[in-house]
Amino acid sequence: MKERIRREDLFDKVMTANEAASLFKDGMTVATSGFTPSGYPKAVPLALAERALSGDKVELTILCGASVGDELDGALSRSGVMKRRYPYQTNDSLRNSINSGQLAYQDMHLSHVTQYIDYGYFGKINIALVEALAITEEGGIVPTTSVGLMPQAIQNADMVIVEINTSQPMELEGIHDIYMTEKPPCRKPIPLTSPNDRIGKTYIPCNPEKIAAIVFTDITDKVRPLGPIDEPSKLISKHIIDFLKYEVKMGRLPKNLLPLQSGVGSVANAVLGGLLHSDFEDLTCYTEVIQDSMFDLIDAGKVKVASGTALTPSEEGLKRLHDKMAHYAKYCILRPMEISNHPEIARRLGVIAMNTAIEVDIYGHVNSTNIMGSRMMNGIGGSGDFTRNAYLSIFTTVSTAKNGDISSIVPMASHIDHTEHDVAVVVTEQGLADLRGTAPRERARKIIENCAHPQYKPMLLDYLKEAEKGKFKYQPHLLKEALSWHVRFLETGTMRIEKNLDEAIKETAVNKE
Ligand code: COA
Repeated sequence: MKERIRREDLFDKVMTANEAASLFKDGMTVATSGFTPSGYPKAVPLALAERALSGDKVELTILCGASVGDELDGALSRSGVMKRRYPYQTNDSLRNSINSGQLAYQDMHLSHVTQYIDYGYFGKINIALVEALAITEEGGIVPTTSVGLMPQAIQNADMVIVEINTSQPMELEGIHDIYMTEKPPCRKPIPLTSPNDRIGKTYIPCNPEKIAAIVFTDITDKVRPLGPIDEPSKLISKHIIDFLKYEVKMGRLPKNLLPLQSGVGSVANAVLGGLLHSDFEDLTCYTEVIQDSMFDLIDAGKVKVASGTALTPSEEGLKRLHDKMAHYAKYCILRPMEISNHPEIARRLGVIAMNTAIEVDIYGHVNSTNIMGSRMMNGIGGSGDFTRNAYLSIFTTVSTAKNGDISSIVPMASHIDHTEHDVAVVVTEQGLADLRGTAPRERARKIIENCAHPQYKPMLLDYLKEAEKGKFKYQPHLLKEALSWHVRFLETGTMRIEKNLDEAIKETAVNKE
């Protein structure tokens, strides 16, 4: 215990998860550790869910860095404890509660969250519930596999509950770099000019008097499995790598590229995986989550440094990480999400941002969150933080979804997270469209020609040509027909139509003289 709690005056704060769960009162706001889903508290949320299921009314507003595991998002949404949740999630039960209207959810840019906490926009943070590796002599809290919003949670909360997780390897200590910004107008430039700069402490300062409970647990992170790297993902990765090589040849990127940011999921993992077999060397990463392919790149000597806010391996990756933690700790830096996702740093470093879209429209607007405009999938996460401020912003998607019944390239996105102004490159397994320096109609032709699936290309071209006959030529649309793509899927189960579009378009008077 002395290795994990280095202050004797805190020993009497050690209690069971059930005892700690009794400290939560109905109506409280709780900010937790955890990020895509690693380093989140597990034992206390499970005990809280039990408490609610046995009849105690305890309804909470919950803030986490990003997605967390089922012990928190799943257990608390199913038991009715969670009534409001910010800012990103990936849990099936929670997603169902959000989409059925049982739970209020605000999907936010991750870089905005900590400022909202500091200014009290979510209300007073009553409890910070955080997973930790250890508590230092100063009362400082050493995070585990993620940092996320922990520093702001601890700083702003009335009471701190710490879950010390003994399944997390002690070699993680030293990997963190905790730097916090001041409020405006006193805010200073963040002194970080390279992804491997260390500018802060290895623990989060905490007034020990705020520590109300310490719970020991050994429940492991329930990381998400990564899909096998399929053919479309390999092709997407190849298109991006060919494009990056071309950019180097044109003198627009240095030989070892610029710091890479890569989104979450299997395609993102595959894109980084492709770099393993490329000629690129001495790579750096300034990203949010560090996934399996990053460990491959580190092992192959291709990556000098990977800076993020969470280590997010798959199940196999977790074992490998635990076995070789001391090795990977030399290459990885975990920062608060305020810093990993900070627009100032993304712009200064000239990050190459690579994120995933659900659908992209012909003018380059990207939907990353709402299926058919209404059903929340996960959330925008950090994609907007990087996309808008990157040197180069790339979006990937497979050209069709649902076995080809949906085209991921559509006339008009059913919801927009990233506008045409922020999206520089679109890539599908079909090819890559470089949109830099293009007017909307040029952009549309590039996206359709290079990225749409052949099944949908003629329909999209028909749409564009018909829309161009309208009075306004800048970014022409036929509103009824544009939306009918989505309606058609809802009504018939496919976006494909057999007949020529002319018939459908005749019905559409909008945008015509
Ligand atoms: N229309 C309708 N449904 C679609 C679709 C489309 N164009 N494209 C995908 N879908 C559906 C899939 O069929 C799947 O549905 P299911 O859950 O019912 O099987 C679901 O959306 C997820 O698709 P999948 O291809 O498995 O997605 P993914 O794991 O590659 O994730 C995002 C894609 C966009 C959901 C994910 O990357 C994300 O949440 N991005 C936003 C946050 C982000 O970028 N974070 C990183 C910042 S660092």
